[in-house]
Amino acid sequence: MIFLLLGTLLVLVFGRLLQVWLKYKFHPIPTYSFTLQKAQNAKDLAAAFKKGDLPKIFRPKLFPFSTYSNFYVITDFDFMKEAFAHKELSNRDYNEKIKIDTKRNIEYYKLDKQAIEILGQNDQLIKNGPGYNTGLADGLYDDFHRKFRTIWYETTKKLTGRNRIIEIIEHSSESVNRILGEKGSKEEGIDPKTVFVNGTMNVITGFAFGTTFEFDDPVFKMLEDELKIIFETIIPILLKKTAAGKLPLFVSQNWLYQKLWKSTTDKYYGSVKKFNQFCFENVVKHRESLDRSNPRDFLDMLLIEAENEPRLGFDVVAGTALIIYAAASDTLANTLTWLCAVLSDRPHVQEKMYEEIMNSIETDNEIKKEN
Ligand code: HEM
Repeated sequence: MIFLLLGTLLVLVFGRLLQVWLKYKFHPIPTYSFTLQKAQNAKDLAAAFKKGDLPKIFRPKLFPFSTYSNFYVITDFDFMKEAFAHKELSNRDYNEKIKIDTKRNIEYYKLDKQAIEILGQNDQLIKNGPGYNTGLADGLYDDFHRKFRTIWYETTKKLTGRNRIIEIIEHSSESVNRILGEKGSKEEGIDPKTVFVNGTMNVITGFAFGTTFEFDDPVFKMLEDELKIIFETIIPILLKKTAAGKLPLFVSQNWLYQKLWKSTTDKYYGSVKKFNQFCFENVVKHRESLDRSNPRDFLDMLLIEAENEPRLGFDVVAGTALIIYAAASDTLANTLTWLCAVLSDRPHVQEKMYEEIMNSIETDNEIKKEN
């Protein structure tokens, strides 16, 4: 009897393995090597592109068995545009198992208790619970996600209408220019990235929370430091999340398995907690003077929406604030740093830009794109 059971089990396991192997062996999309080290990855892909070897889409070879998965890398812009015109491809990696893992993290790191302590039991965000996903850049491409995008658009429209967006950008760019000027240039050059990170963070703080900081403000410094930790840990955290969506729950929710990730999750959620504190304290302040007919910033808009949208819970709002900082700061700071590096090699282009800017200010009293 026992042999029959074992035999059946063996056939089932073997059959499943064969099925998976055949599926990926004859998969229409090729595999291609893809290292996780960013700098090396960029070099390898650029070299492959030059040689004409780089597929427009491939399944990344990250580590053993990774080709037996549904990850794809798209390397061609037109192909990418075409792919993401399909609604279903715009979904972020999200399923019930990920939701359970997210819930576990919230409870394990006591983010729920922290939210209740700061916001109070009767706050609408607490009544809504943690929420549907971890915010704007998470979850399915559904009506809830579209809601975020609409609120984003409406906030930008309001801030632009009141000239507030210009004020925020001017305050931030003045600080960036002043600090870069104070740092001065040196023979060996300077790395402006941190200053650009501060500049973008300030624009985000203005947009989301209606305030701007001086760059040496201790709260601002704290946000910058925690953001660094978030970036240091985000890749393993995203891998863990993806794995949680694929593994059986008895593995992903097992204490031993969780222990394997513990040092990274401790670091990441330690920073998330500080971010959340900043966000929830802002919620409390915003509530004191919230005018439903005249929302001032993105947070006001979210708080008003949360009154009729139970999916907008405390973790969704905090996760959204965090993702905006993360999405805007590193991307823009890298782009601007790259621009500086390119310009420093081309002084004649700098001269031309300077001339155009000065002429524009002289003729129109402002910098106009057409000039
Ligand atoms: C050069 C600069 C930037 C680049 C290259 C860039 C790139 C990207 C990419 C590739 C995504 C898609 C991520 C994904 O869902 O897989 C994304 C999403 C996003 N980015 Fe950016 N980004 C830049 C600047 C910004 C800025 C300045 C902001 C905010 C002011 C921002 C906010 C966001 C948000 C909120 C999302 C999530 C959108 C959603 O899921 O609906 N990004 N960005």
